Formats: sequence, C-alpha cells, structure tokens
Amino acid sequence: MQYHIGVIAGDGIGPEIVREARKVLDRISEVFGCDFVYEEILMGGCSIDVHGVPLTEEAIAQAKGCDAVLMGSIGGDAKTSPWYKLEPSKRPEAGLLGIRKALNLFANLRPAYLYPELKAACPLREDIIGDGFDMAIMRELTGGLYFGEKKTEEVDGKLVATDVLTYSEEEIRRIAIKAFESAAKRKKKVTSVDKANVLDSSRLWRKIVEEVAASYPEVTLEHMLVDNCAMQIVKDPKQFDVILTENMFGDILSDEASMVTGSIGMLSSASFNDTKFGLYEPSGGSAPDIAGKGIANPIATILSAAMMLRYSFDLDKEADAVEEAVRRVLKDGYRTIDIMPQPTESREGIRQVGTAEMGDLICERITG
Ligand code: IPM
Ligand code: MG
Repeated sequence: MQYHIGVIAGDGIGPEIVREARKVLDRISEVFGCDFVYEEILMGGCSIDVHGVPLTEEAIAQAKGCDAVLMGSIGGDAKTSPWYKLEPSKRPEAGLLGIRKALNLFANLRPAYLYPELKAACPLREDIIGDGFDMAIMRELTGGLYFGEKKTEEVDGKLVATDVLTYSEEEIRRIAIKAFESAAKRKKKVTSVDKANVLDSSRLWRKIVEEVAASYPEVTLEHMLVDNCAMQIVKDPKQFDVILTENMFGDILSDEASMVTGSIGMLSSASFNDTKFGLYEPSGGSAPDIAGKGIANPIATILSAAMMLRYSFDLDKEADAVEEAVRRVLKDGYRTIDIMPQPTESREGIRQVGTAEMGDLICERITG
C-alpha cells in the first residue's frame, strides 16, 4: 500500500529535523517494504517569502490530499526577522493556526515520557523521578483564546486589547472523548485541567467532561485547577496518565511537561480530526538561535513520524521499530546537546552527536 505524506519542513531548525525523520521513514520502507510518497508543502516564513502569506489555499488543498502530514517547525526570531513586521494574521504562526483550523485538527496529543536513560538530563530530584513517569497531554487545538475574537482599539485615548475565550459543549465533548479513549488504552486515568474557580468556560468544561466520563466507567476522572497542575507536574509527575485541557493551558503545560522529560527536543505531537488523517510535528519551536548549526535534536520529529505510522497508517510494527531504535540509541549513550547529562551528573559512556549523526544512528538500529 502506498502512503502519501505531506512534508512541511518550515523554518529555523525545521528542515534539519524533518530531513532526519524522512531518513528514518526511508529506512522503514527499506526494511519493511512500505511505500511512502512525499509531497513538499510550503508553510510559515518560507511561504511568506514566496507567496507573501504563511499559508495558501493551495497548501491547504495539498495537505487535504495527503494521508498525513509531517511537519518540522515554523517561525523565526521575532526581534530580527522581517516576518514579524507584518500584521499578526500574516505572520508564520498564523499559518500553523490556519492549517489546524482548516483541517479541523481539534485534538492534539503530546506524550511526555521519561526514558530511563535520560534520568540524568531530567532537572527533577531523584526521589521525585523514582521509576520515571509517562503522561500524555490531550490539548484542545482549534478553540479557546487562540481562535476567539481579537481586537486592539482605542478607548478614551488609551489602547485596549481583547481576546475572547469561548468553548461550546460540542467542542468540549469531542476532545473529552478523545482523552477518555486514549486513557482507556493506557493507565485509565484522566486529569481534566481547568480554571473553574474563575472562568465560565471552565465550568462548562467540567460539566461536559463529567457527562462524557459517565460512558467510561473503567477510567478514573479527576479535576485539577491549572495553577495546581503546573505545580504538580514538577512535584509529582508520576500521578498523571492523560491530562485533558483546553488550548492555551495545554500549550503551557505541554512545554512544562517536556522539560521534566529532559528536553522539548524529545516531545512528539500529533493533531487529529475525526478521520485517520493527522498532522505530526515536534512540540518545540523553530529555535532560530541554533538553526543551521546541525545540533538540534531530531528525536521529537522522528517520534512524531512513529506516531504517524501508528495512528494514521496502522503500521504498529514499523512504529515499534522506530521507538525501539530511539531507546537503543539512548541506551548506547548517544545524546544531542540538549539531552546531555546535567553538569552535576556523570558523562561516562555518553557521546554528544549532531542532528544528522543522531538520525543515522537511529536508522542503523532499525531492523526487521
Ligand atoms: C505549539 C506552539 C504553537 C502554539 C505556536 C507556534 C503558535 O507553541 O504548537 O505549542 O502556541 O500552539
Ligand atoms: Mg507551544
């Protein structure tokens, strides 16, 4: 069977990390005989340079025509890049939000798992880490503050800016179902995160999540306020299985969760609608400060490609092979700079490698 993969390399480190993920996919097709066809799609700053806008109708149509899309990252340095002289709706990030909306990618899954080999890169204390942790953040991706009405106006001679936070029960229900479905296949616990002590949208969130929970008696539901959750992720990350939350809270908590796993360079991400289609991207940004240096960690992108094999193509064996190769490369002591042991930890048996070498080492470890 042939799989049609859209590739959005994007900006900054995007092209470097996507190159390695493609290398890994090519290795998979060599070993397992899969047939992947790639189609380059322009989005973000590189699309602005060519078309003047971060996302064209053509790019959306291209993505829709693919079975799945693999993405690197988009955006540049907000202080120096000319892209940020444009109005907000024409900047690189608007392309990403635009494609999420256009493809109805309302569910964003970000697994945060601490590899035992990366304990030394984890900034948490040994007694907190314990046997490690394994959580997944299910973030609502097409609603809330990101997509509510926005305006900046002058009121009585002073500037006033407004961002509206809206959630409908339908939007809450469909993401809650995704979270419970995912928890049912994992450790059977959903922590729904909100700010119900202050926000109406959170009070509705809680009510609908409880309704959905009634259909999943085998899954335990708990509610947690977002400020407490931010604290609990560093205090006791082991308590979490699936964290279900709205768009903005999920953006913030997923960066926090990535740091406790060692680095954002390890955190993969998949965005889904109601079909098998998915947009797979690392959770991190374009890191313009290290772009072109060949030091970025490609593992989050490679693990995102593994999620694509698993969720969009049902190629479980192939996804397992990629994940196993990543585990082995870490076990064998190879690290990109971001996951090197903390200065206080031993570096014995550890070797620092660059982006391309990490990709090659993972490919070498993919066997049938
Ligand atoms: C993410 C990113 C994006 C977001 C940015 C680049 C718009 O931070 O995917 O987490 O805020 O969703
Ligand atoms: Mg983010």
